[in-house]
Amino acid sequence: MIEAKNITKKFRQQTAVDNISFNIEEGENFVLLGTSGCGKTTTLKMLNRLIEPTAGSIYINQKNIEEQNAETLRRSIGYVLQNTGLFPHYTVAENIAVVPNLFKWNKEKIRLRVEELMRKLHLSKEYYNAYPNELSGGQQQRVGLARALAADAAILLMDEPFGALDPITRTKVRTDFINLEEFKKKTIVLVTHDVQEAFELADRICLMDKGKIIQTGTPAELLFKPVDSFVKTFFDEQRLQLEYKSVTLQMLWQFLKDDHSNTSSLKEISSQTNIWQALEYLNTNNDDSVSTKNNNTVKEINYASLMHAFNQYKKYN
Ligand SMILES: Nc1ncnc2c1ncn2[C@@H]1O[C@H](COP(=O)(O)OP(=O)(O)O)[C@@H](O)[C@H]1O
Ligand SMILES: [Mg+2]
Repeated sequence: MIEAKNITKKFRQQTAVDNISFNIEEGENFVLLGTSGCGKTTTLKMLNRLIEPTAGSIYINQKNIEEQNAETLRRSIGYVLQNTGLFPHYTVAENIAVVPNLFKWNKEKIRLRVEELMRKLHLSKEYYNAYPNELSGGQQQRVGLARALAADAAILLMDEPFGALDPITRTKVRTDFINLEEFKKKTIVLVTHDVQEAFELADRICLMDKGKIIQTGTPAELLFKPVDSFVKTFFDEQRLQLEYKSVTLQMLWQFLKDDHSNTSSLKEISSQTNIWQALEYLNTNNDDSVSTKNNNTVKEINYASLMHAFNQYKKYN
């Protein structure tokens, strides 16, 4: 759906983005990850022509975006800015309705859409006519998300959308966002410097450094098959937690013992559950074992079998 071919951006002497290429599939959540200044925002802004590349081309649905009107292109792509970018003199409803108004939707359709999004993003109706400065940071960020979703664009670009919030609010807003049906449907390109956030949101992560892409792959690929020591050390601090979160029971299947005894009496969890969630489940439910099913085979999961399978997985991957 999105194809970037050898794009470079130079600001006078400095190369902010250095000859990078990537393909993003329809419906995919693609995360640009890297430390501050590595070129993430510049890359994102080239996708909707807020910044023009110095060299290279970008195609959306096989069409070169250079050949499209920049305004039209921008309206057809949702965009969430780092610091919400809300208009301070517009009400919440007016902020959410910016793009539908540009599309000249009728008033009733706009009102219904704004109300629907406020409900979905857990913004109380009483804020409909409030101004951004009357809202908390988390609420403002929810308005920013609602605005980006308003016209139901197929592509959503998000620049550190949860970055300016305190950790607790950030987790709340992020969880609510992940649970939206829109999150599952849309093609999303998200910029973050937060490793946990990247792992929570990404189908694939594109790890950047100094304007270059160092590795693109699934979270598990970056953890277990790093291309070099930069990638390896990038995740070291949180490695164990990230590994638990990126490996599902299904990925461990061949290393989990088959069970033919008493699994029918056990509670069942999905084979898409990751190790982290499975451990949490065992902990909070006070169950010693649970069962999980995949293609008609059933496995019994307990702490020991899970750890054993995980170690085998690491050894043979
Ligand atoms: N408008 C600009 N003019 C000059 N340099 C810029 C401009 N925008 C970004 N840069 C530089 O390009 C590099 C990449 O910036 P950016 O894409 O914002 O990084 P990130 O989003 O990863 O923090 C940085 O060194 C930054 O200072
Ligand atoms: Mg940035």
